[in-house]
Amino acid sequence: MLLIANKEAWPGFAHTVDMLRSGANSLDAMVAGIGKVESEVKVRSVGYGGWPNMIGDMELDAAVMDGTTRDVGSVGAVPNTLPVARLAHEVMKRLPHVMLTGNGARRFASEIGFPEDDVLFEDSKRVWWERLEKEVAPEDLAKFPNIPLAPLSKAITDPERVRDTTVFLSADAARGIHAATSTSGWAWKYPGRLGDSPIPGAGFYADSRYGAAACTHTGEMTMRCSTSRTIVLAMKLGYSLSDAIKLAVEELNELDTGFLAGVVIHAVDAKGNHEVVNFRCEGEISYWLWEDSMSEPELRAAKQA
Ligand code: GLY
Repeated sequence: MLLIANKEAWPGFAHTVDMLRSGANSLDAMVAGIGKVESEVKVRSVGYGGWPNMIGDMELDAAVMDGTTRDVGSVGAVPNTLPVARLAHEVMKRLPHVMLTGNGARRFASEIGFPEDDVLFEDSKRVWWERLEKEVAPEDLAKFPNIPLAPLSKAITDPERVRDTTVFLSADAARGIHAATSTSGWAWKYPGRLGDSPIPGAGFYADSRYGAAACTHTGEMTMRCSTSRTIVLAMKLGYSLSDAIKLAVEELNELDTGFLAGVVIHAVDAKGNHEVVNFRCEGEISYWLWEDSMSEPELRAAKQA
């Protein structure tokens, strides 16, 4: 059994490990662990601790993928709802659909008993508004948000806050290979913007026969390259895990228009190998690893692409 997750998973990783150790279903265990990440305000990228969109509304994205059946449940730009990875799991279990967004996702949440939850954390609200005060002229601020938002979109981007995800991957010979994600998305995003975390093939993909991948950071790049699907498809075509990631990195590297920044790729194969690779993110990137031979999860350093 193998579990990896990015560093932001710290509030829930051990909980997922405990559930896996006691034989829980892998997706149930990852969704429960992500629920703890989503409710921890110190994680400034997911759930309560995350960032609102440009007009100050929280819009959360999350997904799960069962690599054995290739069933997916996904929610995007969901207002006022936590735990959102669990909501994605319920989409997979209860609906003939793969993805719900916005008010439809909120309606579904109410139907199955999720309370309306004001997920905007006071400190996120303060930082959000202070940035607007810096970037928006006083006469526009007085009318805000009834002003054109598109011209603001580039000016207000804060590269420090374009990361915003937690990803979990589990792999087990008997239980299969699965993926789960959750994020508040890009801070000050245009309302309705979806990142890669709810998009199968971009922010995550799993196929128990070959492996799985999930990405953090710049969804605007992994959506253009279908990065997670590329890695799993390459392994299906016979690439090793390392070569599959190299191929995905080459594709990211070919992009030279649009918003370009860093991407971190997390991937596992069906032989029990894993790799976490940092493409262009500044600073050291680390991730959580647990294998059933380990008594405790370990924080490891990602490789540079
Ligand atoms: N990878 C997170 C996002 O782009 O929203």
